[in-house]
Amino acid sequence: MIDDIIEISKRAGSIIKKGFGTSFKVEYKTNESNLVTEIDKASEELIINFIKEKYPSHSILAEEGGDVRKNSEYLWVVDPLDGTTNFAHGLPIFSVSIGVQKNGETIAGVVYDVMRDIVFSAEKGSGAFANSDKINVSKVNKLEHSLLVTGFPYNVAENPEGAFERFITLTKKARGVRRLGSAAIDFCYLASGVFDGFWEVHLYPWDICAGKLIAEEAGGIVTDFDGNSISIFSKKILSTNNQIHKQIIEVMEKINN
Ligand code: IPD
Ligand code: CA
Ligand code: CA
Repeated sequence: MIDDIIEISKRAGSIIKKGFGTSFKVEYKTNESNLVTEIDKASEELIINFIKEKYPSHSILAEEGGDVRKNSEYLWVVDPLDGTTNFAHGLPIFSVSIGVQKNGETIAGVVYDVMRDIVFSAEKGSGAFANSDKINVSKVNKLEHSLLVTGFPYNVAENPEGAFERFITLTKKARGVRRLGSAAIDFCYLASGVFDGFWEVHLYPWDICAGKLIAEEAGGIVTDFDGNSISIFSKKILSTNNQIHKQIIEVMEKINN
């Protein structure tokens, strides 16, 4: 199955790469910050048609509405273009993210980093890879020495879950905090040791599913802000190299939201 997920992620990535920098149609979703382009939709259509053809009995949960509900133990969780705002503005950081669950447990995940042409992949229990190279989280064990990444939801102006306070506090404690604009890529750069920690509020299952497995298979940990295990439907996500997890939780505890 992993080969199929990789194949369709790369095919979707080709559509995205071809569309990058062209004049595509853009629509607003919940507000004027929340965009969807015709390329998001074309990518999703390609992925869904592939799954329907090869795995006709499987269910699909996809961001742009192409859900398929079947009475199946398998669920494909699809973000056809993670990083739409970057894509729409010409910033080359975006991905295709596809995870597959069996009876509610993620068994395989692929994040295709389109412009760097890197396939991040993992199967449950078999480690994580960047193309064919095995990847591991970093060994940094002091928050003061860490490079972190975060993201903001589209309703950040309403300050959900103290998003700004968390950003300010952790920026003061860590060596640096970045905001790349693709949650799936954030998980994968954590998995490959670039970032030592990643947190975000109000993500969706398609942002989390594949990246969470890749981070875990690379030796990372993914919990809520209290250290509890989470599902792909959770709204507070903290993923680290394990070494600085407690230190970040201690910081989060002091933020009342
Ligand atoms: C977004 C990206 C971004 C994150 C947002 C997501 P989209 O996904 O992952 O990094 O901060 O919360 O919604 O809309 O580009 O697929
Ligand atoms: Ca997304
Ligand atoms: Ca998306």
